[in-house]
Amino acid sequence: MSTVDLDQPTGRWEDPSPTPAALLLLGRGADPASERGVDCPGDLPAPSDPNLVARARAARDKLGDRAFVLGHHYQRDEVIQFADVTGDSFKLAQQAAARPDAEFIVFCGVHFMAESADILTGAHQKVVLPDLAAGCSMADMATFDQVEDCWDVLTDAGVADVTIPVSYMNSSADIKGFTGKHGGTICTSSNAKRALDWAFSQGEKVLFLPDQHLGRNTAVLELGLSLDDCVLFDPHKPGGGLTPQQLRDATMILWRGHCSVHGRFSLDSVNDVRERIPGVNVLVHPECRHEVVTAADLVGSTEFIIKALDAAPAGSAWAIGTELNLVKRLALAHPDKQVVFLDRTVCFCSTMNRIDLPHLVWALESLAAGELVNQITVDEQTSRNAKAALDQMLALP
Ligand code: 13P
Ligand code: SF4
Repeated sequence: MSTVDLDQPTGRWEDPSPTPAALLLLGRGADPASERGVDCPGDLPAPSDPNLVARARAARDKLGDRAFVLGHHYQRDEVIQFADVTGDSFKLAQQAAARPDAEFIVFCGVHFMAESADILTGAHQKVVLPDLAAGCSMADMATFDQVEDCWDVLTDAGVADVTIPVSYMNSSADIKGFTGKHGGTICTSSNAKRALDWAFSQGEKVLFLPDQHLGRNTAVLELGLSLDDCVLFDPHKPGGGLTPQQLRDATMILWRGHCSVHGRFSLDSVNDVRERIPGVNVLVHPECRHEVVTAADLVGSTEFIIKALDAAPAGSAWAIGTELNLVKRLALAHPDKQVVFLDRTVCFCSTMNRIDLPHLVWALESLAAGELVNQITVDEQTSRNAKAALDQMLALP
């Protein structure tokens, strides 16, 4: 199996330098360039209130069909129990679009998911994110201005006309709007291959953003491209750190972004678990680094991971490389199988974890009392362009 050569300057994994936005993960202070919200308003119930579950239930019952609660697989147990539907980001986007009668879509997930829900739902529907600080650090690694500058670089190199942007769902509405405006599509971890197949039927090159790993893993492991067909565009360097010739020679132009949670898994984690548990099946999310994915037995979205465990025989052993809330739930749901977290260290997604029971109770009680809180809205122009890209994804063959 191939591995990534860390000494190679282009097309390969590199740890991005920390950005100021990365310091705002917990929602303290305002960052206008950030896709996530900022300080969360509201008079939250005390986390120690023993009645939180009963309060959430009462508010949920009072809202009835007026509200629909979506829960991503990385949400905490205390929150996911109130979800009407759980899913990966693709399924949740579909579900949001399929609920035209719900007045409120309460999104237990992160900011880019709530934005996508707003784009896909009607004007009469309100999307609520229980904590405005629930963002995604990966999404913040591609800002609109940076992506516009990148397109200028591609234009100057003479390749923009033959390049199709493919943006991961984990991106701001602005980036989705850019993608739609330039004839591209959105993808998720469950349809990235289909999105790339489609994109290469429309153009000669793909600009894949913001997750370099999903782009590289899909291009190399599913489309059969080589690592040398990929270059890494660094928005913090002039010209992306690439020469015009490198851009002309490349097939996949990968944005230099990554998930800090999945970036924690390493080849050592895989080797270590294989030594500790002989015969273990290593199953990872495609946001993991290329060398981790190539060393794994199976790779797929959160929904894929859940289905793989459901289908696994009793007595089998599994090491899962994705967010810990999901892995813990899988271990509990499959007592007849050995399910362990791929790495020895804890790996929650801190922003997914922002949605806790106090925030959910506060959001549901406020809505039930007639007060609309934490509404996520996308402006009309951005929404129109972004919807074209999201609709393209929903229509992928
Ligand atoms: P899924 O689409 O697989 O649910 O992944 C979303 C995500 O944010 C993973 O980090
Ligand atoms: Fe973003 Fe990574 Fe958290 Fe997913 S797990 S929401 S990509 S930071």
